[in-house]
Amino acid sequence: MDERDVRLVQDSLQRAGARGVHVVRFFYAHLFGARPDLRRLFPAELGEQHERLLNALVHVIDHLDAPGTLSYLERLGRDHRRYGITRSDYLSVGRSLIASIAEHTPRTWNEDTERAWTNVYTLAMNTMLAAVKRDNAAGIPASWRATVVSRRLDRTGHTVVLQAVPDQFYPFRAGQYAAVHHPELRGIWRPYSLVRPDDDASRGEVELHVARTPDGSLSTLLCDQASPGHTLTLSAPAGDGWCAQDEAPLTVIAAGTGWAPARAIVAEQLRRCPARIIDVHVVARSRDHFYDQQHLAGLESRHRQLTCHRWYPPDPHRVRGFHDQFQQHLAEGPCLADRHVYVAGPPALVSTTIETLEQRNAPRSLTHDPLLSTRQD
Ligand SMILES: Cc1cc2nc3c(=O)[nH]c(=O)nc-3n(C[C@H](O)[C@H](O)[C@H](O)COP(=O)(O)OP(=O)(O)OC[C@H]3O[C@@H](n4cnc5c(N)ncnc54)[C@H](O)[C@@H]3O)c2cc1C
Ligand code: HEM
Repeated sequence: MDERDVRLVQDSLQRAGARGVHVVRFFYAHLFGARPDLRRLFPAELGEQHERLLNALVHVIDHLDAPGTLSYLERLGRDHRRYGITRSDYLSVGRSLIASIAEHTPRTWNEDTERAWTNVYTLAMNTMLAAVKRDNAAGIPASWRATVVSRRLDRTGHTVVLQAVPDQFYPFRAGQYAAVHHPELRGIWRPYSLVRPDDDASRGEVELHVARTPDGSLSTLLCDQASPGHTLTLSAPAGDGWCAQDEAPLTVIAAGTGWAPARAIVAEQLRRCPARIIDVHVVARSRDHFYDQQHLAGLESRHRQLTCHRWYPPDPHRVRGFHDQFQQHLAEGPCLADRHVYVAGPPALVSTTIETLEQRNAPRSLTHDPLLSTRQD
């Protein structure tokens, strides 16, 4: 990549204040003016919260010279396959992006800058499209339709466990997630962790554990309405997943629906190494908020080397003091130096836990949920 191009692009981005609301509005108006057919890909309400494409695009373009960006773009290209977009759509987005930056840097915009933008965008686009081409050639579906076959609401009405059958084999690794779409919510895709219902990889069902998010669009719909017969769309499985390569003991810390990837990981570890010692810490905001307890109790009774600790604040109004106590237990509790630790749950809990463990009780390996967006506790 030409360093001068990168510098010109970064300079104009800085001048345009590219995350500014005017640039965002101009971009979408330009794009949907030229290509009204692309509007269907985006949420019905394009509030500032949802104007993610431009922010994300600008971030990627701004960091194109950073190590790892090209492989990130390949992943992004694969991830975009679910939108069913073509090279001509990429070109339209590129034109609108460049028009928005030009419009907001009138004094410094010139042919060199325009050429630099074209080069940089083309590189990003071609990297994404090359990955798309490889996945198409390998016959990997762009998305899967999955029919809901069962629905179980926990007793608080806070978490629903949905089982769905994909229309074709859906391969995923423990700890991975899928972007999920419901046809009633245009343009809305949210990540949910993937679980095998009975932890038996030979069956085709996929289980999703969905916590109700106050005023959340997809989680509310899934908790209240999704029922047998509904069809969801699943993206290709994403995320690295996790699997220990040795037989060292494992500690799992899972808060809220962080139990979903944790459950998939525990099942995989028990399958690979039935004698492995596993400590599970499940954290909930109150005693009533533990869900999937029957499954957990079954695991405890079948596997004597698996121990489960349930953590919840005795007084649901004093959650903060409880969180501090939990972190203190992790810092001062049993030494983790010979253990793998896997952490999943709301980003705040995951990042505090990582910090505590890295500073005060470093384990043999530490793996955690991707901290992309909100997961409720
Ligand atoms: C890797 C990963 C795995 C995940 N796995 C799971 C899982 O297994 N189970 C699970 O339940 N969740 C999981 N999540 C979280 C999940 O993806 C969703 O973020 C969650 O369900 C909320 O989505 P929603 O559409 O209901 O809420 P959104 O509609 O996205 O709303 C989220 C919050 O933002 C607020 N909001 C929305 N729009 C606006 C606006 N315009 N202005 C101001 N505020 C606004 C809403 O009021 C709400 O409180 C995971 C997240 C990640 C990153
Ligand atoms: C080089 C080109 C592109 C880059 C670098 C890029 C990057 C991104 C990134 C990083 C996200 C956010 C990831 C996420 O929220 O899941 C995103 C979201 C999205 N992208 Fe792209 N993208 C590109 C081209 C396109 C094109 C051509 C389209 C189709 C017209 C498109 C449609 C979308 C949509 C619909 C979203 C979700 C937006 C939302 O939820 O509001 N992207 N893109």
